[in-house]
Amino acid sequence: MSKNKISSSSAPNVSGGGTLFRTKAGVIAATLGSAVGLGSIWRFPAEAQANGGGAFLLLYMACVLVLGIPVMLAETSLGRGGRADAVGSYMKLAPGHHWWIAGALGVLASYLIISFYMVVAGWTLQYLWDSITGALYAGADGTPVLALESTFHHRMEQYIGSDIAPLISTFIMIALNMGVLMMGVQKGIERASNIMMPLLFVLLLLFSIYALTLPGAAEGLEFFFRPDFSKITWSVAANALGQTFFSLSLGIGILITYASYYPSSTNLVSTSATVSALTTFVAVMMGVIIFPTVFSFNLDLSQLRGTTLVFVTLPEVFSQMPGGRWWSILFFVLLLVAALTSTISLSEVSILFVQKRFHKSRVVSTLIMMCPLFVFSALCSLSFGSLSDLKLFGLTIFNFLDTFTTNWLLPICALVMVIFTGWFAPRGTFRSQLTNGGTIAVRLYPVVSFIVRWVAPLLILVILATSI
Ligand code: PHE
Repeated sequence: MSKNKISSSSAPNVSGGGTLFRTKAGVIAATLGSAVGLGSIWRFPAEAQANGGGAFLLLYMACVLVLGIPVMLAETSLGRGGRADAVGSYMKLAPGHHWWIAGALGVLASYLIISFYMVVAGWTLQYLWDSITGALYAGADGTPVLALESTFHHRMEQYIGSDIAPLISTFIMIALNMGVLMMGVQKGIERASNIMMPLLFVLLLLFSIYALTLPGAAEGLEFFFRPDFSKITWSVAANALGQTFFSLSLGIGILITYASYYPSSTNLVSTSATVSALTTFVAVMMGVIIFPTVFSFNLDLSQLRGTTLVFVTLPEVFSQMPGGRWWSILFFVLLLVAALTSTISLSEVSILFVQKRFHKSRVVSTLIMMCPLFVFSALCSLSFGSLSDLKLFGLTIFNFLDTFTTNWLLPICALVMVIFTGWFAPRGTFRSQLTNGGTIAVRLYPVVSFIVRWVAPLLILVILATSI
């Protein structure tokens, strides 16, 4: 019975009037584009540095394998099974129940995340522009090496702390997103991802070749790859779990939304495995780029935290490197591409929601959801400037949203999602989606199902508990 229900909902073109991704490569590029973002490029090296280098890498890889892939399968199976937006998919799979609230929380979470994510994406745009014009390095030539760090630090604080300049770049980023999103699923999201993801890999490759040929690279690699097991603690493990959810875009409806565009022939297992493996590969490449560079330029490892790494430490390195301005341009292009494909996926969650729930056209839905962002993101941006005294629970607006969404909302949505898939979705939904209605053999199904039912909920509870 339930099998019939699912296979009919996953039949070709029964997509509720929506569009599907056109090619297999497009499915991978779009999903990978969502996953690879600021999370893998700058959050990962910082987390690895703070949590024992190789030990963290090992834990992260274990988390991706044991938890990341099964949870990704759970979420994509809801999306393709429901063939609707995050809220609609729950409604279709559990009509008359209140599970749709989990989808609504996902829409909320993704919306709050874009509000602040867009601001950082905007900084990237400004730094790219300043690399192109040379403004970023103006005056750096004559500066003694020892003073470089404070020069770039000062520059960053001045820029981020000002009101107008970061606002303008944030607005440009929102407009760029709108441009792509209005063009729709195939011509917008899929095409943009098909162009940007290969570019990202080429850039990563260039950077890693350069980093590996630096004198002192070995020392950096040793820090990154040699696991020191004494560094593994509960809180390090919880951070690795959090990083897994963040970097794979799990739990907040992004994958429900994107999977609703997967053709019924898409193999969810190989897609999830490919996307997870490539995302991990990007994170590893970033480690291979950052740690040898930091060691060979004798920089302070503790400087790798978030914004400092990208907007202070790396410009410092670029100013020292032969041809550094060109590398600087390439790096900010890389970051921009990574951020853009991620903001597109974060935005798409609420756009499809409006499109499906309120029966609006794509263009109107994009306008309805993206225009208020000009206000929300502006508040986040200004919270480094004029609004820095405005505090919510002792945090600035930006930091509050960051902490509240990543530490709370994201794990809570993910928890409800796995519980629903494992225990409450119509019997057979998960299996039928994984096997494409019984046409592909998934030998590990019992293991995956066990993880989704038992292991994932318990581990997510552990993340939540450590947040408290
Ligand atoms: N996965 C993307 C990143 O790592 C975007 C994202 C962030 C998705 C946070 C969900 C939650 O940057």
